[in-house]
Amino acid sequence: MASESPNIEQSEDQPALETIVSLAKRRGFVYPSAEIYGGFAASYDYGPLGVEIKRQIRDLWWQSMVREREDIVGIEAAIITNPRVWEASGHLDVFSDPLIDCLKCNARIRADHLEGNQCPECGAEDQFTEAREFNLMLRTQVGPVEDDSATAYLRPETAQGMFINFENVQTTTRKRLPFGIAQIGKSFRNEITTKQFIFRTREFEQMEMEFFCRPEESLEWHSYWKKERLRWYYRLGIRSENLRMRDHDAEELSHYSSGTSDIEVRYRWGWGELEGIAHRGDYDLSQHSSHSGKKLTYFDPDTNEHIVPHVIEPAAGVDRILLTLLIDAYNEETTANGETRTVLKLAPEVAPAEIAVLPLSRNERLVPTAKKIHDLIRPHFRSQYDDAQSIGRRYRRQDEIGTPLAVTVDFDTLDDDAVTIRDRDTMEQIRVPINKINESIANRLAELTPHVPEMDEINV
Ligand code: GAP
Repeated sequence: MASESPNIEQSEDQPALETIVSLAKRRGFVYPSAEIYGGFAASYDYGPLGVEIKRQIRDLWWQSMVREREDIVGIEAAIITNPRVWEASGHLDVFSDPLIDCLKCNARIRADHLEGNQCPECGAEDQFTEAREFNLMLRTQVGPVEDDSATAYLRPETAQGMFINFENVQTTTRKRLPFGIAQIGKSFRNEITTKQFIFRTREFEQMEMEFFCRPEESLEWHSYWKKERLRWYYRLGIRSENLRMRDHDAEELSHYSSGTSDIEVRYRWGWGELEGIAHRGDYDLSQHSSHSGKKLTYFDPDTNEHIVPHVIEPAAGVDRILLTLLIDAYNEETTANGETRTVLKLAPEVAPAEIAVLPLSRNERLVPTAKKIHDLIRPHFRSQYDDAQSIGRRYRRQDEIGTPLAVTVDFDTLDDDAVTIRDRDTMEQIRVPINKINESIANRLAELTPHVPEMDEINV
């Protein structure tokens, strides 16, 4: 059994973004896209560990938003659809940012991001073109003829898929109000400023839910979803002091919104949006109704009325949540013998692996035993097996990728049929019999899972 010294110091500051970018690449969370061709601006590829976390994020969202609820169902709509959808939704007209060009260096800048009258690239003062609106939708051509009739768009939000399928879903599921339609999938925006790694990119993944309710109940549901969504981030283990709810000012509101609250995260560069919870009123159903000529209403069998439901929409980004988890969980600790250890203190549910199985060495008797133990564990937990390099180095590697527990198989195991389970955060080790291994792991993981406050304990 390898002994380690407990931590004596722990940095409380957030890591620099470069530290996270470098860890992400070194360990296989996120790589720059097309790196062998010099990369491609603001495009990233997810590696073996990144995809595990993304999958967990999506599954936890789907679990809490769809599977655990009676009132929400899921869909998957097309990314490229009839362009009239974007006419009706307002995205063709108003989904744009104001752009100016620097007359000296030709830099293209978002007018609303300009601080003072100086070009952020070359420092020239007051030398800009007039601002013009730049539509953020990514355009493409459908079919072999490149004319206007073939123009289509990659969806800038998944939400419209739910509105255009409102009637279909309602008819096939016979859901009564209030009910929601949820979707996870890629969205695309031709963002002008892409910054902060995967925080804002042109291709990203959204998890959105449109909750249809009676207009007179909509404010109550808005408040319900603000609390419920905040609880979900506590479940992911994001530290509560790094989360806050902020209501939009009137001038910030999107074209469809009559009220939005953002769940924000404290980053080193300031507070940033993690998820928007918008009150979309009847905007989308009314727009699609008038553009398509189809009546998109709900018939209430109790009152015999046709009503246009109002919509509350929690909208989150998978990539941004992943970045937030890496930053929030990152710790550098100085151990008693003066070594620095990097630990990702991820909650077990969002760690790429829950447990690592490590034979003390590549000894020919230890390896087959360790592999057998791994076979016992792997059907039940997300696990890794590693026998390369020294045990100390392997503990460090698992700490750095956030694996909460490690099973060590040593020479005593061959005699006593027991293994050591090491805890990532405390580095404490306990000895457990092999025939109780899955039970012991499950118990310890449950203890490490963050406590989620009840709805009435949340104040927003
Ligand atoms: N349907 C409403 C909607 O799309 P949004 O606030 O524009 O609202 C929702 O997007 C979430 O999607 C954001 O809170 C963010 O997490 C994610 N998101 C939006 N644009 C993004 C981008 N360019 N890169 C990464 N994530 C993005």
